[in-house]
Amino acid sequence: MSEIYHIPAMLTETIEGLNIKPDGVYVDVTFGGGGHSRAILEAGAGHLYSFDQDKDSLRNAIDDERWTFVHSNFRYLRNWMDYYGIEQIDGLLADLGVSFHHFDCPERGFSFRFSAPLDMRMNQTAKRTAADVVNSYSEEELAQLFWLYGELKNGRGIARNICKARAQRRIERTEELVENLTPTLSSREGGIHILENGEIEVPAQYKKDLARLFQALRIEVNDEMGALREMLVAARDMLKPGGRIAILTYHSLEDRLVKNFLRSGNLEGTIEKDFYGNILTPFEIIEKGRTACAEEVERNPRSRSAKLRVGGKITPP
Ligand SMILES: C[S@@+](CC[C@H](N)C(=O)[O-])C[C@H]1O[C@@H](n2cnc3c(N)ncnc32)[C@H](O)[C@@H]1O
Repeated sequence: MSEIYHIPAMLTETIEGLNIKPDGVYVDVTFGGGGHSRAILEAGAGHLYSFDQDKDSLRNAIDDERWTFVHSNFRYLRNWMDYYGIEQIDGLLADLGVSFHHFDCPERGFSFRFSAPLDMRMNQTAKRTAADVVNSYSEEELAQLFWLYGELKNGRGIARNICKARAQRRIERTEELVENLTPTLSSREGGIHILENGEIEVPAQYKKDLARLFQALRIEVNDEMGALREMLVAARDMLKPGGRIAILTYHSLEDRLVKNFLRSGNLEGTIEKDFYGNILTPFEIIEKGRTACAEEVERNPRSRSAKLRVGGKITPP
């Protein structure tokens, strides 16, 4: 297992965007390795509630009386804040997706680089695994999710291969999924090559599509878009006037949702105007899709797809 749980992306820019108020109440809905949470506390937050649905993240617990860990999906933000007696918050951060830990921990099944059970659950107690999705969805449903969440051009062909393979026997492991994307390789060379340490050897030309295929399944298994939608609405309603919401996104679908939500204040992205044609929105846009600088990408290549969006809750007139 990797020693590094996670390296936070765009740390300075995110903390600047949150404009931390001393004694303010903040929420980090994606605790992970705790890098952002620590920085929020160092910047002087009065109290910080950090959510993570993966109990492994608790190994990064922060010893500070201003800190509370919430082991839950962030879609239940409102319920948990009610539980703690918090009606309004000064700021919220969401650094979406998974931690390095998930990719680097072979047995969790998030990576096509390792032979492992096809799992991909962020919450280890959730019922549905990636194997359940792969074996129970229809060919059409698989094709749609590969296109929608992975933008895979050959998603339909992969879905067909999967359905053919699973008619023989249930698909249970990462390497079986890899084989479905690399059928020519398997037939010519007698299957993909798994090294003694469990690493799967994949020719470079397949890596991009495999990353997209695994991403699509991960998003579906964890209902990432559904959780994001519910959390955005709760955050909008709980944010104090002058409060900030900072979101780091990593793929176009979630980025588009966040962008439209901050612009319009609703999930449909419908812009409403007043009698004079002024846009009615609860947010002013502070950051509109800032990306990591070249130096950061060099130091932490996984930050290259991060986009930072920050909205400030408008004080009503
Ligand atoms: C990109 S990492 C966050 C890293 C963190 N900012 C840091 O500095 O280490 C995302 C984390 O959020 C968690 N997560 C993702 N979706 C979640 C959800 N819907 N509810 C709760 N936790 C979630 C994942 O388990 C993962 O640990």
